[in-house]
Amino acid sequence: MKIFLDTADVDKIRALSATGLVDGITTNPTLIMKAGRDHKQAIIEICKLVKGPVSVEGIGNTAEELVKDAREFAKWAPNIVAKVPMTAEGLKAVRILEKEGIPTNVTLVFSAGQALMVAKAGASYCSPFVGRLDDVSESGMHLIEEILDIYDAYEFETQVIVASVRSPTHVVEAAKMGAHIATVPPEIFEKLFKHPLTDKGIEQFAKDYAAAAKGAKNK
Ligand code: G3P
Repeated sequence: MKIFLDTADVDKIRALSATGLVDGITTNPTLIMKAGRDHKQAIIEICKLVKGPVSVEGIGNTAEELVKDAREFAKWAPNIVAKVPMTAEGLKAVRILEKEGIPTNVTLVFSAGQALMVAKAGASYCSPFVGRLDDVSESGMHLIEEILDIYDAYEFETQVIVASVRSPTHVVEAAKMGAHIATVPPEIFEKLFKHPLTDKGIEQFAKDYAAAAKGAKNK
């Protein structure tokens, strides 16, 4: 399974991509606002740091507006993916952009019906938001299961990006289901490395190593 970082924080991306485990990046207007950087400059820097796909979201109510933004983004770097909203106009934009060779990621997907339309439109990626569904007492991960079943049944090539991830458990569940990608905030990426027993074990081994070295010297 691929793991993307869901952030526009260039310093975080630089630090975490040094692990060699960051397969791509997703951004949205909220994340760009939080990063407090010029949109274009931040994206160009990110695209240099990460060789995998970098999703960039435009704003627009019509396919024409969304296509215009996406064509502009695609000029910034070769690994840009155009993120478009889950609307009929968004999916019209997907058909146009994919034909032009600009990969698309359809965002704000909350139902299996929507995900079916995304795949039929030929999008490269579909981004269901699991955390936001959990927030309204629906099961985000159940939706992922449904989408993967539908995509498998028809051998759709659209890849599922599990988005709006709130915990390492979401990532593990996504991996068990065979989701293609999970896009995770940097805090969750860091948590995936951690276990308190690992820390405790390392501490104990370090102590024992020092004690053994001291013992050997005294013999
Ligand atoms: O990838 C989509 C993600 O940015 C939304 O996450 O936490 O705002 O629901 P969240």
